[in-house]
Amino acid sequence: MCGIVGYVGRPKSLEVLLGGLRRLEYRGYDSAGVAIITEEGELVTRKRAGKLQVLVDDLAAEPLTDGSTGIGHTRWATHGGPTDVNAHPHLSRDGKLALIHNGIIENFAELRAELLADGYTFESETDTEVAAKLLGREYEAGGGLAAALGRVVVRLEGAFTLLALHRDEPLVVVGARRNSPLVIGLGDGENFLGSDVAAFVEHTQRAVAIGQDQIVTITPDSVLVTDFFGTRVIPSEFQVSWDASAAEKGGWSSFMAKEISEQPEAVANTLRTRIHHDRIELPELAGLEEALTDIDRIVIIACGTASYAGMLGKYALEKWARIPVEVQLSHEFRYSEPVLTPRTLVVSISQSGETMDTLMAVKYAIEAGAATLSICNTQGATIARESDAVIYTHAGPEVAVASTKAFVAQIAALYLFGLHLARVRGTLSAPAIAEALEELSGIPAKLEQVLLTSTRIQELAKWMSDSRAVLFLGRHVGYPVALEGALKLKELAYIHAEGFAAGELKHGPIALIEPGQPVFVIVPSPRDPNSLHAKVVSNIQEIRARGARILAVAEQGDAAVLPFADEVIPIPLAGALFEPLLAVVPLQIFAMELATAKGLDVDQPRNLAKSVTVE
Ligand code: G6P
Repeated sequence: MCGIVGYVGRPKSLEVLLGGLRRLEYRGYDSAGVAIITEEGELVTRKRAGKLQVLVDDLAAEPLTDGSTGIGHTRWATHGGPTDVNAHPHLSRDGKLALIHNGIIENFAELRAELLADGYTFESETDTEVAAKLLGREYEAGGGLAAALGRVVVRLEGAFTLLALHRDEPLVVVGARRNSPLVIGLGDGENFLGSDVAAFVEHTQRAVAIGQDQIVTITPDSVLVTDFFGTRVIPSEFQVSWDASAAEKGGWSSFMAKEISEQPEAVANTLRTRIHHDRIELPELAGLEEALTDIDRIVIIACGTASYAGMLGKYALEKWARIPVEVQLSHEFRYSEPVLTPRTLVVSISQSGETMDTLMAVKYAIEAGAATLSICNTQGATIARESDAVIYTHAGPEVAVASTKAFVAQIAALYLFGLHLARVRGTLSAPAIAEALEELSGIPAKLEQVLLTSTRIQELAKWMSDSRAVLFLGRHVGYPVALEGALKLKELAYIHAEGFAAGELKHGPIALIEPGQPVFVIVPSPRDPNSLHAKVVSNIQEIRARGARILAVAEQGDAAVLPFADEVIPIPLAGALFEPLLAVVPLQIFAMELATAKGLDVDQPRNLAKSVTVE
């Protein structure tokens, strides 16, 4: 969480910082602040509780002197509530140094006690102010800002990205990272730092990822990366594959609306270049090829929406590659003493590639000797870099906090991997693989068709905007879809929503059904080979008999559902494993429209952040 921007170059810091923070605001949005070294060599700061706009309005009412060097921050509170005082930047005791921080400094209490004993006082409740005071003290000991930062970071425990500037080094910004993201943007006579490339993509598409436990120093004309002890490292440059317009709303009412509409393209981009007629090409798995022939088990780890993509991956991988797969929430995984061997493949799924719970689980898996693969949407993200191999979903930047297009792209990537593994293991015939690939390639066009139903869903959402609880039911692959539908409604509309496996209904949840209770039901195709269709129709009848209001997401032309549903939302015909890619879309639209009808901010829901970089 927390968005971080640093800039050094021309006397336009404020514009660069506020532009970068605007693009990073999805990471945290409870307060924001900037620090600038003016052309006269003064250090000036401004910080405000509330969304970035509060700070922007404040700066418009009472301008801050601009300069060529600055840092900016948008916060998701951990230590201390979202107040002006707790907002970043924080200053050194002499007020000459400013520092911003993403992450949690776990030993902050001990460090704070040490500083208190040394006569220091604190204004805020944050762990960040401790780092600022510590860095100020180290700076006084000499050697310059980067060296002082090196001496501070080795004392910190936890996860952090820190950026700092000092008015005695007016054209320098320094940064350090451990388990928290930081990327360099290379400009011409100017350089940038950001939590991710969105911070500077409108200025440059040349980027450099900074490794674990490294320190970076930028000036207008130079970039120096070292380890924590000052030894130089040569980082590798990469080209950002999307431009600033991809991270703009482009006429849509919200990023969420735009990203939902981009799902056909997101899936197509994930498949493009990887399917050649009836062959799958995943050169990114080269480093894992040997391991893939030997693995006897797969563990998928992920959080939130990504974990539901993982559940769908389990059905596909077990069916196609005949290998046992278990899905675990990343934050539960490493505390469950999982049995991992060199023959276990741990597959992590993360849109951001920075989710701390998932990163820590990946590290645990690596230490335990398991092979690791990540499915990730963000180029150069930490989880991708830590893993043995990565399959990037090419969904493009996802800005709205609640995930939509990344979810369908994750499923597409998992299915590609499943079919590849089936070929490696010889568990599916070439024609069967070709058939599945054809089905997968047809998904983008079918997604276009589903999007056409959005007007009807908008009407439904408006009628239902005062619902107090909504239930979602599904069986087999419909179950993760039900969970995702409920999660979307919780995240966006703050409505109590639960997803259940339809078969579990009679074991408890049916007690929740009372007259008028809205229940979305994900209905499998009547052509389903497991005959689940009839069972789900029976479940519908059971709850209908108790007064539930049925909203069925069903294959178009499914006549068996019509008599029992109050509303049928049709989806195009697809094979059983592929239906979730289509069925989830009406549920995303429903949650977005209902939240909109309630007047809520669908891009930045309360209390959430997109990139959860704390455990
Ligand atoms: C947060 C977001 C969710 C997201 C989850 C995992 O909780 O609010 O929408 O699914 O993180 O994020 P990741 O970046 O790891 O996919």
